[in-house]
Amino acid sequence: MGFVHTSVMPAEVLAYQNLKPGDVCVDGTLGGAGHALSAIQAILPGGTLIGIDQDLDAITNAQNLLHPFKQNVILVHDNFSCLSTILDRHGIKGVNAILLDLGFSLNQITQAKRGFSFNRDEPLDMRMDTRQTMTAQTIVNTFEQKMLTDLFFSLGEEKFSRSIARAIVRQRQVAPIKTTLQLTRIILDTVPKGRAASQKIHPATRIFQALRIAVNRELENLATFMEQVPDLLVKGGRICVISFHSLEDRIVKQQLKKFEARCTCPKDLPRCVCHAEPTMRPIVKKPLTPTPEETAANPMARSARLRVAERV
Ligand SMILES: C[S@@+](CC[C@H](N)C(=O)[O-])C[C@H]1O[C@@H](n2cnc3c(N)ncnc32)[C@H](O)[C@@H]1O
Repeated sequence: MGFVHTSVMPAEVLAYQNLKPGDVCVDGTLGGAGHALSAIQAILPGGTLIGIDQDLDAITNAQNLLHPFKQNVILVHDNFSCLSTILDRHGIKGVNAILLDLGFSLNQITQAKRGFSFNRDEPLDMRMDTRQTMTAQTIVNTFEQKMLTDLFFSLGEEKFSRSIARAIVRQRQVAPIKTTLQLTRIILDTVPKGRAASQKIHPATRIFQALRIAVNRELENLATFMEQVPDLLVKGGRICVISFHSLEDRIVKQQLKKFEARCTCPKDLPRCVCHAEPTMRPIVKKPLTPTPEETAANPMARSARLRVAERV
């Protein structure tokens, strides 16, 4: 089966990227390259699209999909947290737009066979970048019980973190936990049946999410990237970030707030001593969400939040 791309909020993203022919833009999370395909057409003639993904499958797919535009496309198999180095390597001083559409792609759940979904029996891997060594198996089989509890609670907001961590540790003393099905069974056997039935989501959802975020260091990479945003954009350049998790959205919101800050000196000081100058301005005050029509057609879009800001 070919690569699938169901881009989230495609019309909103394209409008807010505000692209013009000749622009240089970055898609830091190519995935199925749906957003990239719209962006490249908006910057022709003359523009350049730098497409990045840490998953080699996404790069291979984008090579095929964007082949007709190859003169204007640079594809990079890397982490978006390294964008500054990537731009330096290509002699690019600043770009007109950057898009991050966070999380995992449909292809990663349905085709990658790397254990992203509890609905399939696959090796417990969850790496987006298979060059890295730590997998979900490493975490599940080696982290201390307290570390597992904290991870499930902080990244998955899982109420039964403690008992699931205890059950994992008990089980791995018998034999290592190697597959998604083994882990899902442990979770199903631990979560009280009544609670599991009353939840809207599958009882394994939050644990799988927590493991994926930890394996791929998703919050750390996002925070590293966000700190650099004003240095990566030209004046008037835009950053668009779609997040799917409140912890991601908080990182984006708080970092943008810092960049948007004006003088914070007490009013009674005769002159400013903090010298704070805003480097970004918000383009949307509150995060945008998908329309009900989009969520009905693509339930994966339901938790998407789009924030947009501009370099001043
Ligand atoms: C939601 S998908 C993007 C979908 C894409 N916008 C489209 O239109 O099809 C997220 C993609 O970002 C990639 N990704 C996630 N975090 C990354 C990071 N820190 N650096 C590079 N790629 C990342 C994943 O491998 C995945 O392919």
